[in-house]
Amino acid sequence: MNIQNVEDFSYENLPNKKNIVLDLGCGKGLFLVRMAQRYPEDIFIGIDYSQSVIKAATQKVKKAKLTNAITLKGDFLKLLDCFPEGSLKKVYVICPDPWFKNKHRKRRTVTYKFMEKVYSLLKNNGVFHFTTDFGPYMLTVINEQYGNFKNPYPGVSWIHTIANHPFSTYMDKSLGSDGRVYHMRRIKS
Ligand SMILES: C[S@@+](CC[C@H](N)C(=O)[O-])C[C@H]1O[C@@H](n2cnc3c(N)ncnc32)[C@H](O)[C@@H]1O
Repeated sequence: MNIQNVEDFSYENLPNKKNIVLDLGCGKGLFLVRMAQRYPEDIFIGIDYSQSVIKAATQKVKKAKLTNAITLKGDFLKLLDCFPEGSLKKVYVICPDPWFKNKHRKRRTVTYKFMEKVYSLLKNNGVFHFTTDFGPYMLTVINEQYGNFKNPYPGVSWIHTIANHPFSTYMDKSLGSDGRVYHMRRIKS
């Protein structure tokens, strides 16, 4: 099976540049496929640097016969460099890191710098969505102020459930252990 590397990805060759949605660290692609099936007008790009999981994701996309989902192997930070400013509709980061200890927090994906980058790539009203099953990770993320990101949930910084929101593999697992995940959304304004 052909698995496309991020180095071979070209924004210019995308068939639809209007509604681009990224799933960064897509794992085996369960969420990617569910979202692509639900929103056929959007184009979903899932990326993961693990060969085995991106292979599984690629197979899932193929099996579902989806024409609006692309899988890529590689570092998602490299993928972000492929897009012009103001070009993305949504960016999902779902259960990205194993860096739970406070002393390892600098290695986590969702940092101030990362958010600034995502902010610049989103269109106006574009959405950044972050989910973690680790409360302290969410706390460090929400304590940063990023550009003109607006919180769509009045009075709360995150929520535990979103009606009708498809689950990823890790969201399923997290609900099995401590019973909840934390979702944060920010809208570019
Ligand atoms: C805990 S899994 C979650 C997978 C999926 N999002 C889910 O919720 O089921 C995190 C995934 O992110 C990938 N990942 C972490 N950092 C990455 C990076 N910088 N570039 C590409 N993939 C990354 C890992 O290989 C792993 O498959």
